[in-house]
Amino acid sequence: MFPPQSEKGSMARRILVLNGPNLNLLGRREPDQYGRMTLKEIEDELRSYAASREAEIRFVQTNHEGALIDAIQNAIGWADAIVVNPAGLTHTSVGLRDAIVAAAIPAVEVHLSNIYRREEFRRQSLIADVVAGQITGFGPFSYLLGLQAALHLLDAKRS
Ligand code: DQA
Repeated sequence: MFPPQSEKGSMARRILVLNGPNLNLLGRREPDQYGRMTLKEIEDELRSYAASREAEIRFVQTNHEGALIDAIQNAIGWADAIVVNPAGLTHTSVGLRDAIVAAAIPAVEVHLSNIYRREEFRRQSLIADVVAGQITGFGPFSYLLGLQAALHLLDAKRS
């Protein structure tokens, strides 16, 4: 799926943006909660921001837990960082957590809504303590903040 590690250029900053279940419905899914931007519109914004920062970006959205885990495993050797909104799997998936730990790729967790201002069950993220940090509650802007945070992490590692 991704080029092998040997093709990684020294200046390359490659970011995988991963989205979990139901985020393909953004734009018409609970707009009061998640806003009216579609996932495609969000991805377009991220793509142009990434270009302005000379970063390469790839997107995966899936409604399936195993496919999300596969995407993380496939990112090994390609991605320098992952920006991930696991959606409902945030609160349930030990497999996702284990994949993030196993991949050992720095990750930033993002959520459109503020998961701490919603139902009790959303307040627990099973990945919060294995990611570099979490951005939650800024609508589609959370993704841009997440991408900036990922690039910041990589820049900080290099300097
Ligand atoms: C979400 C929050 C989750 O609780 C929810 O299941 C989602 C979206 C967010 O981006 O706010 O699907 O991850």
